[in-house]
Amino acid sequence: TGTMRMNKANHLEIGGVDTVSLVEKYGTPVYVYDISQIKYKARTFKMTFQKRNIKAQVAYASKAFSCLAIYQLMAKEEMSLDVVSGGELFTAIQAEYPNKKIHFHGNNKSDSEIIAALDYDIGCFVVDNFYELSKLNEYTKQRQQKVSILLRVTPGVEAHTHEYITTGQTDSKFGFDLENGQAQQALEMSLEMPYIDVMGLHCHIGSQIFETDGFSLAIDKLMIQSKEWQLLFDFQLRVLNVGGGFGIRYISEDEPLPIEDYVNNLIDEVQSVSEKIQLPMPEIWIEPGRSLVGDAGITLYQVGSQKKIPDVRNYLAIDGGMTDNIRPALYDAKYTGVLANRVADTVEETYSIAGKCCESGDMLIWDLPLPKADATDILAVFSTGAYGYAMASNYNRIPRPPVVFVENGKDFLAIKRESYADLMRLDCSLY
Ligand code: LLP
Repeated sequence: TGTMRMNKANHLEIGGVDTVSLVEKYGTPVYVYDISQIKYKARTFKMTFQKRNIKAQVAYASKAFSCLAIYQLMAKEEMSLDVVSGGELFTAIQAEYPNKKIHFHGNNKSDSEIIAALDYDIGCFVVDNFYELSKLNEYTKQRQQKVSILLRVTPGVEAHTHEYITTGQTDSKFGFDLENGQAQQALEMSLEMPYIDVMGLHCHIGSQIFETDGFSLAIDKLMIQSKEWQLLFDFQLRVLNVGGGFGIRYISEDEPLPIEDYVNNLIDEVQSVSEKIQLPMPEIWIEPGRSLVGDAGITLYQVGSQKKIPDVRNYLAIDGGMTDNIRPALYDAKYTGVLANRVADTVEETYSIAGKCCESGDMLIWDLPLPKADATDILAVFSTGAYGYAMASNYNRIPRPPVVFVENGKDFLAIKRESYADLMRLDCSLY
């Protein structure tokens, strides 16, 4: 993708930096992000709305990859930010993220998380449930502090990659159901709350979505419902947040839409429904995570041991695995990769890439065609930028790899490699 290419030395290059030199400098495993790609995608999302003169907010769903440096980058790109925990909020505050651009999600926000968000006077709470709504009502009254909220609604549309399903009543832990009147009840309650301003509605229909029908259907449902609520309660839908979920390419079979197409389809749908039912155009907010950082990131590993089972399989082990990328084990997610130190060498073997954890399920890629590999080789795995570092663990007491940003031939350390001492930082001695 983008600025990834093979250089004269037959090495993989990302953001103008030779991956072999990155490995010499930072060791393995290492996550590498081409931040010019992230910026390009952020700008594309925003520009597409601007070109059509649509009021919008594009919030980076930072659960996909959260750290100080990415928050600094997103703030500089004038993106809004979606946080889902006190920890993400804390990191955003450390990055001096503009407070009004922060949106706070979560289905079980604790009192201390709510208070932290009120103290920082963030832009918007995405309220998930009655418990949260009543707590927010109490706190805002006590503090005499106004807050803006969106109500998270479960629209009865669920989308994954190619299909979407509609369910009468969605069985989900998130949000207020549309079908059984919960959402309407939540709206009526919040409209009565003196310090709460209901700006609009939120929904999120899924992740790694390749088509637009699911979004359109969710938009229809929420806008038609809003029209009814306008007539009933004089509710004005000022903001319609349709969540994230825009897909990316992991393997060649994946065919995500260009970012412009996702956005233009959302705009078309909101505009056409708005005209049809005579509801004023709301602002359109979105929350992309994966599509901003996913394919901007790769992971570099050192190749290690091999196990050949004649006529069955060649296992090729790398010095990382499910601790730095749990997605294959957890979701059966597919990835592809190349030998970064000799990209164009002839492919002669099929390897199944094994991690180093004590667990049979710790496999990164099944049946990957590669040149004959040995322990001098470096494996680059593509599209690891979303939910890789974010979901990394210390299983088997394996330290987390560092994160390096590259851009225009330069590299910057964004997160240091964890040391063994870091692993023991919180351990207390029994004697
Ligand atoms: N907004 C809300 C309310 C969400 O729940 C999510 C993701 C997003 C935005 C961002 O979705 P994205 O654009 O990244 O698809 N760990 C899983 C993905 C979980 C997504 C959870 N919610 C994975 O590795 O595939």
